[in-house]
Amino acid sequence: MNRPLEGKIIVITGATGRLGTAFCKAVLEAGANLVATDLDKSATQQKLRELQDAFGQDRVLPLAADTTNKGVAGPLRGGGGRSVRRVDALMNNAYPRNANYARRFEDATYEDLVEHVGLHAGGYYLACQRFLELFKRQGHGNIVNMSSIYGVVAPRFGIYAGTAMTMPVEYAVIKAGVLHLTKYIASYHRGQGVRIRCNAISPGGIRDAQPQEFLDRYNASATSKGMLDPKDINGALLFLLSDASEYVNGQNIVVDDGWTL
Ligand SMILES: NC(=O)c1ccc[n+]([C@@H]2O[C@H](COP(=O)([O-])OP(=O)(O)OC[C@H]3O[C@@H](n4cnc5c(N)ncnc54)[C@H](O)[C@@H]3O)[C@@H](O)[C@H]2O)c1
Repeated sequence: MNRPLEGKIIVITGATGRLGTAFCKAVLEAGANLVATDLDKSATQQKLRELQDAFGQDRVLPLAADTTNKGVAGPLRGGGGRSVRRVDALMNNAYPRNANYARRFEDATYEDLVEHVGLHAGGYYLACQRFLELFKRQGHGNIVNMSSIYGVVAPRFGIYAGTAMTMPVEYAVIKAGVLHLTKYIASYHRGQGVRIRCNAISPGGIRDAQPQEFLDRYNASATSKGMLDPKDINGALLFLLSDASEYVNGQNIVVDDGWTL
């Protein structure tokens, strides 16, 4: 079996969400050892324990970690319980939202926009900053940030017509920001004598329980499948986490079945 991540230690945030669950499984199948982190809620912690049960106590370290907390990397530096001394890669995949997320543009408030940018883009920044301290000490590190096609192109609002859905303004601001954070970090370490790289993945829409009229309109702009399944993003992630992408730095891989063409 091809195990491109054999021996690597990888941290994934938002590990028990829809995409996070698929990513955790994919990196474990690819041979990595995993630090799977999510919020300190009973449901997420239960899912992290299930991941450990499925793949082995020695290969999965479940951690309660809020990416908006400055201690996000604390347990990795020898805090209570098991700790990890080396980390090869961080995947920023968490998706924090407050109760007012995804209001129409006219109804979104300044406070909610600022809070979302702080929670989501700010959380990615914080996790990057904290793990980069470790990466610099160990001389190498790899970051993959989750962006979105909506960090790349403007929304096509017509696809939401007649549904309760919209493309939230805060999401566009956040995901465009995450893309530039990615390039910033990649460039920042130029010439510092460390092998640190930072790339992004921008998925298209992931199939959930969206209304059929929306799906029909969305799928019409794709080249074959349309809305994707979480596992469809795995290939890009495994590539960026593996040594096959050793000299890929500051880039964004769009996985959207050609939707943004
Ligand atoms: N689902 C899509 O259609 C889609 C498309 C493109 C990009 N993305 C991106 O992929 C990533 C994952 O999305 P998803 O659909 O799996 O979301 P999800 O809501 O299913 O999962 C997100 C996970 O993040 C965790 N989380 C929330 N706040 C956190 C915090 N402060 N600290 C740590 N963990 C936190 C949640 O508990 C949850 O398990 C997000 O960055 C999202 O923007 C999703």
